Amino acid sequence: MNVVDLIEKKKHGQALSHEELVYFAQGAAKGTIPDYQLAALLMAVWFNGMTPEETRDLTLAMVHTGDVADLSGIGGIGVDKHSTGGVGDTTTLVVAPLSAACGAKVAKMSGRGLGHTGGTLDKIESIPGASVDIPMDRFIRQVREIGVAVIGQTADLAPADKALYALRDVTGTVDCLPLIVSSIMSKKIASGAGAIVLDVKTGSGAIMHDLESSIELARAMVEVGRLADRPTLALVTGMEQPLGTHVGNALEVKEAIDILAGRAGGRLKEVSLRLGAMMLVACGTARDELSAREALEKALASGAGLEKLRQMIAAQGGDARVCDDTSLLPQAERKIPVRAEKAGYVVSMDAAKIGLASQRLGAGRLSKADAIDPAVGLVMNVELGDRIEAGQPLVTLYANEKGADEAEALVREGIVIDEKPAQPPKLIYAVVRPEGVERF
Ligand code: URA
Ligand code: CA
Repeated sequence: MNVVDLIEKKKHGQALSHEELVYFAQGAAKGTIPDYQLAALLMAVWFNGMTPEETRDLTLAMVHTGDVADLSGIGGIGVDKHSTGGVGDTTTLVVAPLSAACGAKVAKMSGRGLGHTGGTLDKIESIPGASVDIPMDRFIRQVREIGVAVIGQTADLAPADKALYALRDVTGTVDCLPLIVSSIMSKKIASGAGAIVLDVKTGSGAIMHDLESSIELARAMVEVGRLADRPTLALVTGMEQPLGTHVGNALEVKEAIDILAGRAGGRLKEVSLRLGAMMLVACGTARDELSAREALEKALASGAGLEKLRQMIAAQGGDARVCDDTSLLPQAERKIPVRAEKAGYVVSMDAAKIGLASQRLGAGRLSKADAIDPAVGLVMNVELGDRIEAGQPLVTLYANEKGADEAEALVREGIVIDEKPAQPPKLIYAVVRPEGVERF
C-alpha cells in the first residue's frame, strides 16, 4: 500500500477501505508514515469528509494501534462520561462521585486541559497530594471497592490519536467531524468503557459553535458507539458562557464540592444531574431517567455524593479534608474585580476568551511543557441575561504573579453589554440516542 494513493483517493472524495484506514492508523501510531503525508491526508479528510463506515473503521483501527483496557474486574458495567470540552466545565467531579453513590461503576480516564478548555486531570491534581497516575490494577480495584476512580490515559491508549491530534492541532484540522469522532471514540473504546455518556458542547466556547454541527457530531459518535457495541448516549448542552461560575483548577474543585455539599446550584449542577441520570440508565443501575434523577437528588441531599468524592480523593492519595474545608485548596494571592464600564444587559459572551483569560493567569498551558498554577483562574459574577450597573464586577480574577492585564483584556472582549436585553440561551438542547434525536 502507498500513502500517496490514499491521499489522491481522498483528495478526489472517494472512500477509503478498511485496509487503507488500518494502514493509515498504524502508520500514524508507528511513525512509518511521515508527518507531511499524514498532514496532507488529514487536510483531504477535512475537505471531503468520511462516510459513517469510514469513520467507524478509522475509529476501530485507531483503537487497535494500542492497548485495550480490560475492565472486567470492576464488578459491573463500567460507565464513562466525556465532554467535548468547555469552560468552567467540571461535571466529572460532580457526577462521577454522585453516580457512584447511586451504585454505578465509574472508571474514568480523563485528559489534560487543551487550549481554552480545562482538563479534569489538572483539576484533580490541584487537590494537595492527589494523583491521577495510578497503575491499572489499582485503578480496577479502586472502582470495584468504592465505585469511582479518575485517572490519566495510559501511555499506550490509542497512540494513533496522540500522533494525529498533535498534527491536527498545528495544521488547521481539529474542527473536522470524522476526525473528532474517531479521536474521542477511539480513546473511550480503548479505555474499556462498557457504556458511554457524551456531553457535546455547542456555542462560543465549544469545538462546534453552531447547534446543527454539534448535533451532527453527537449523532456520529452515538452511531460509532452502537457499531462498536458500546452503548453511547449524548447530551447536547450550551457553552455560550462558562458552565459553572468558577474557572480554573482548584476553583472548579471548590465549586464541585460546594454543589455536592448542597451549597451551590445553577447550570453546572443541572447538567451534572442530567448526565448522571443518563449514566445510571446506560449502565443499568436505574430503569429510567426519572428514577435515576430521584436517586441522584437523594445522594446529593444525604451527602452520599460528597462522601464518595472524599473516598475517591483519599484513595488517590489526596487530602480529603478539602471536602469539608475548601480553604485547604491552593489559594491565589490576589483577587482583582473586572468592573463593567457601562450599565446595560449581558447579551453575549465569548466563552473561549474567558477560558483563555484563565489560561493566561496560569490555569492552562500555552505549550505542552508549561507547568500550571492550580490556584489561579476566575469567578464569574454575572451570567447571560443579567442587568448590570456601571462599576459592578463582571468577573473576579484570582491571580498570582502573571497574566492579570492580559486576562482582564480578554474578559472585557469576551463579555458584551448592550442597552437592550437579549433572551438567554438554552442550557440543554438535545438528547441523542441510537433511536434518534430529541430536541428541547
Ligand atoms: N477532544 C479530543 O479528544 N479529540 C478531538 O478531536 C477533539 C476533542
Ligand atoms: Ca475535558
